[in-house]
Amino acid sequence: MNAIPSLPPRDLLARWDDQQAAYVAHREPRFQAMFDVLDLHLSPGFTALDLACGPGSLADRALRRFPHASVTAIDYDPLLLQVARGVLGEYGDRASVLEADLVRDDWADPLADRAFDAVLSSTALHWLSPTDLLRVYTRLADLLPPGAVFLNADHLRFGPDHETLRSLSAEHDGRVQRAAFAAGADTWDDWYALAAGQPGMAPLAVERERRFATRPPQPLAPLDFHLSALRTAGFAEVGTVWQYLDDYVVLARR
Ligand SMILES: C[S@@+](CC[C@H](N)C(=O)[O-])C[C@H]1O[C@@H](n2cnc3c(N)ncnc32)[C@H](O)[C@@H]1O
Repeated sequence: MNAIPSLPPRDLLARWDDQQAAYVAHREPRFQAMFDVLDLHLSPGFTALDLACGPGSLADRALRRFPHASVTAIDYDPLLLQVARGVLGEYGDRASVLEADLVRDDWADPLADRAFDAVLSSTALHWLSPTDLLRVYTRLADLLPPGAVFLNADHLRFGPDHETLRSLSAEHDGRVQRAAFAAGADTWDDWYALAAGQPGMAPLAVERERRFATRPPQPLAPLDFHLSALRTAGFAEVGTVWQYLDDYVVLARR
């Protein structure tokens, strides 16, 4: 059996990024589309919340592209939070990493003393049920001042009335994954095994398993659901800023 290499947080993030790029074909252009909106819409010293930040992928890119911005990153996976703290610690007080469970009613309480111009999320909110999503969107609408934006990048599956688009998207996903894994990218499970094998991380992996064991990813909600839920939650303007097959960036302006 090969020994697991000991990797610093930045290398774990790089392996995570390769793994995620196997599941999200145009992940970097998707981040770019989100950042272009921030660039066009906000002043350079904006503050953002990264919702379900994982190991800090989105926050890291945002802090690099916008050197005057600051980001609060939240997640509920203790192992990913540990990697995020290691990566985002490089940005000093421009970055903070907090634990929050988005399915709890009080998930936003630790953010009470912070003001945000933007909330960002990537490849994450499909973990929430439609009921939890509506609740999170409603809380976000309360949290954000008029003019602030929410940008959510995620796969939003086509429904049964879009059979062709649905099967094209599934076939495309399959091809991208096969090519990425053949080229050496970790699978989701491989990456977690690698991370759990890092010094001091095994107990965090056990705790992660305990927290998420009874929370399988949800059936993906279609775009229409997200747009209606965001309007219902109190956002003034909703729409899409980027799409590739069933992968979208949704914008909601407060
Ligand atoms: C596929 S990862 C995406 C991470 C990162 N945003 C990215 O794009 O690389 C999904 C993230 O959602 C987080 N997540 C799932 N359910 C959550 C919950 N109830 N509260 C907070 N975070 C959650 C997971 O811990 C994980 O970090």
